[in-house]
Amino acid sequence: MLCPKDTFKETRAAKLARNAERKEEVKATWAERKQAWADRKAKSKELKEASNTTPAGTEIRKVLISAYGDESNISVITDTIPEPAANEVQVQVLYSGFSGSDINMRLGQYPLQKAAPLTPGYCLVGHVISNGEGSSKYEIGDLVCCLSVYDGEAELANLPEKYVLPVPEGVDLQAATALILDWTTAYGMVMHTASIKPGDKVFVHGISGAVGWATAVLASLQGAEIYGTASPKNHAAVIKGLPGATPFDYANKDWMTAMKDLGGVKVVFDPLGFESWDESYSILNLQSSMLIGYGGNISTLTGTEPRSMLPPLTKLFARNYLKVLDGRSTRFYYITRDDKTFVPDLESLFELSRTGKIEVPIKRVFQMRNSEDIREAHRSWGKGQGVGSLLIKVAEDAE
Ligand SMILES: NC(=O)c1ccc[n+]([C@@H]2O[C@H](COP(=O)([O-])OP(=O)(O)OC[C@H]3O[C@@H](n4cnc5c(N)ncnc54)[C@H](OP(=O)(O)O)[C@@H]3O)[C@@H](O)[C@H]2O)c1
Repeated sequence: MLCPKDTFKETRAAKLARNAERKEEVKATWAERKQAWADRKAKSKELKEASNTTPAGTEIRKVLISAYGDESNISVITDTIPEPAANEVQVQVLYSGFSGSDINMRLGQYPLQKAAPLTPGYCLVGHVISNGEGSSKYEIGDLVCCLSVYDGEAELANLPEKYVLPVPEGVDLQAATALILDWTTAYGMVMHTASIKPGDKVFVHGISGAVGWATAVLASLQGAEIYGTASPKNHAAVIKGLPGATPFDYANKDWMTAMKDLGGVKVVFDPLGFESWDESYSILNLQSSMLIGYGGNISTLTGTEPRSMLPPLTKLFARNYLKVLDGRSTRFYYITRDDKTFVPDLESLFELSRTGKIEVPIKRVFQMRNSEDIREAHRSWGKGQGVGSLLIKVAEDAE
């Protein structure tokens, strides 16, 4: 949540003290961790030599989506990971993000996804544990992060060095994990796709969600008036975090009447798609406004039959040609780590977080001790209490 001015200094001092403590703890436990992984590597090597069939690598625990379908297809398994290949870095994962992509990959509905079996985990924070041939950017023990797309929910991950980025000192680890995907998505939409000026009315679907919350906070920092939808149980948390914001219940359409009565809004951020994009389009003002779609999640959230995104996407893009008639434009936003804005955006967010200009609320941290932990994360997606991001604590000793 945005820091109220009168508690800003206190919050910042507490954050600095926590970071100093963390640094000491990391120093103290790093030698222990290194030894533990060295022991595991030695054990795996021993096994390989004994059987002469086991592939070279280190034993790890990881989440596996074995086939598409319900939560019974997810388990936490033990497997081996090979040494990092050329130009890769092996990272010991502390936290992974947990988001709509986990659910959609389990259902086999994520755009252009890998076929199951697969290990999800769209983003991660961890320590570099070894370098593949040709990788030299990081030293062993460096704190790094990655928009990995897959494999974040595993004790070790081999990642292309070019996509691995440093986590600056002073950034909270859980916040860093949420910033990599949830907040960079929001940042891209608010700062690059939309053009928001002080006083503009902005409507955010799922304002209590991870991307929704980040979008509302960043639009509010641009001076926008914030409106959005969330379950009534989360309205108090929305107003507490963003005083002045107006939450509506998504279970009815009162928000549409209210927004039209206000003369329409400048921007709508909509991850639901389908009919929701029609509704969102109808609340845009007729001077100069934009609907930004960034997902088609309504069936996943309501548990209804999945539908093709092609018709709604075609309609969304076609509507953009009508801009000349009434000033309403449309976009679909999709984040990629190859986008030239991705790294500078993440760096800006790290700085906003480090300096206390944004608070990054974490709605819930799930463990990765057993299959039931991860199944519970899947079951409770989109139904949580409060506002903000969801994480998986991969390393049991992560702070
Ligand atoms: N395009 C991209 O680059 C990109 C990147 C990242 C994420 N995404 C997409 O962003 C979306 C949000 O992901 P997230 O991780 O932020 O999800 P999340 O944190 O779980 O948030 C889900 C939100 O949806 C709300 N909700 C639940 N049921 C609903 C319903 N029936 N109708 C309307 N709203 C409902 C929830 O409100 P309550 O909790 O208050 O009930 C919550 O605010 C997903 O569709 C994801 O695929 C897209």
